[in-house]
Amino acid sequence: MADRPDILILNGPNLNMLGVREPAIYGSTTLAQIEGNCAAEADRLGLEVDFRQSNFEGELVSIIQQARDEHAGIVINAGAYTHTSVAIHDALALTDLPVIELHLSNTFKREPFRHHSYISDVAVGVICGFGAHGYLLALQAMARLVGVVDEDGSNA
Ligand code: DQA
Repeated sequence: MADRPDILILNGPNLNMLGVREPAIYGSTTLAQIEGNCAAEADRLGLEVDFRQSNFEGELVSIIQQARDEHAGIVINAGAYTHTSVAIHDALALTDLPVIELHLSNTFKREPFRHHSYISDVAVGVICGFGAHGYLLALQAMARLVGVVDEDGSNA
């Protein structure tokens, strides 16, 4: 359906390696499986999703810049760039779109360098520590932010 809000789900470096990458931390679900689960959940919620991944900081910045014309909101797991990238912070700051920061792992239970995020202060909220399920939680939160479900989760 053309008038469904289109949500950008943007994944940063090394997330293409999910499934084989440190499964004790990140789980065994692959990024392709997460993409499929997101498509099903988006359909249920009344959203479209555009699911992307890049290992390159500048490409992530370009995708975020384009999102303001094409999307209704951004769910971003910026991977390690979360903790380093002023450029991604600035790109997110100039979109007028609602942003949800997402991490599979609970970054606050991990090394101190993962405790600071350049994204949190330009995000509506943060979801971390729920593994692949966090992507579905983020879509549910985004559905409310863009107005396709009410505060209580019922259809708007
Ligand atoms: C991550 C957490 C980051 O600290 C890490 O660099 C990642 C993945 C997560 O989803 O838990 O690449 O964003």
